[in-house]
Amino acid sequence: MSSGDSSIEIRDLYKIFGQSPKQCLDAVRNGLSKAELAKDHGLILGLNNINISMPAGKIQVVMGLSGSGKSTLIRHINRLIEPTAGSINIDGRNILEMTEIELREFRRKRTAMVFQRFGLLPHRTVMDNVMFGLEIRGVDKPQSRDIAMRWIERVGLLGFELRYPHELSGGMQQRVGLARALSNDASILLMDEAYSALDPLIRTDMQTMLLDLQKELRKTIVFITHDLDEALRLGDKIVILRDGSIVQQGDSQDIILRPADEYIQRFVKDVNRGRFIKIDAVMDHTQRTDSRSLPKLRSGTTLEVAAGELTNSSYDAAFVVDEHGQPLGLASLRQITAALSSTAEGV
Ligand SMILES: Nc1ncnc2c1ncn2[C@@H]1O[C@H](COP(=O)(O)OP(=O)(O)O)[C@@H](O)[C@H]1O
Ligand SMILES: [Mg+2]
Repeated sequence: MSSGDSSIEIRDLYKIFGQSPKQCLDAVRNGLSKAELAKDHGLILGLNNINISMPAGKIQVVMGLSGSGKSTLIRHINRLIEPTAGSINIDGRNILEMTEIELREFRRKRTAMVFQRFGLLPHRTVMDNVMFGLEIRGVDKPQSRDIAMRWIERVGLLGFELRYPHELSGGMQQRVGLARALSNDASILLMDEAYSALDPLIRTDMQTMLLDLQKELRKTIVFITHDLDEALRLGDKIVILRDGSIVQQGDSQDIILRPADEYIQRFVKDVNRGRFIKIDAVMDHTQRTDSRSLPKLRSGTTLEVAAGELTNSSYDAAFVVDEHGQPLGLASLRQITAALSSTAEGV
């Protein structure tokens, strides 16, 4: 099976670490907290009542502080961790019901992982690292070489095929990791803090590359991060975890404009609002008749860009239009600047 056709449905998922976890499942279902479970029973609540529909061909971000359960969640998707309760359906198939053989096949053919510490084999060249997974799958050498070469080129590493990992910068090593994952042609890409160890500028480059690749590949990507900027930039959907529970899920606009609680508010506080809030959030839907020949801005334009364009024109408002040029509403410079500076409640 190739790219872009795997949705992931996670239902009523619980993971309790420790001895005899099932004995405490009912208590957890009835609201026993992570702290209480640890104190009273010596068990660790990894995941608590997780329900997520991860759309096929999109980037699902999972965000949260360290220890919130992100890695535990992503490792359930290829069943490196067995849940205490719940189901994980991928294209309608509950992967928890797979036999050992089916599971091995599923892991090898349908999923690929990119790790934070790159996970490269130190004594193999870039080429051999990328070919490694293909060889394991039984692809013959000449074909492996062709496939590997294509992805090495695609991630911008042409000319580095014969280098060893230690000769490369962190960003370049992560490109090798990505090339290796992509050469697998799996429809699901699992990225656990893949960019967290990289310097900010390199990290932004890697995000841009992933978004570019994704336009073409349309894989189902599960991307874990503890960084809100990264989450907002990459996530078609974002889910935020705390102590193993979901505190909020939605798109970037939901998270910035309607943070569910103080925990998320704290993440959102320092975000560059102009870069992430879209003009659609501030426009007046009732005004759709353009009597003044106002400038037009595409739906989805960020406030930063919108403010820039309006400031450079002689107008104090713009029409927001869809991809066909149909008016959706009116956005004034005053509304835009108010949204740029206001707290979330103000919008
Ligand atoms: N194998 C394990 N045994 C016991 N506790 C674990 C295990 N793996 C993770 N945990 C605990 O589960 C919680 C979530 O961990 P993790 O998923 O690694 O968080 P994150 O990736 O968000 O930092 C933490 O409290 C962690 O200590
Ligand atoms: Mg982790």
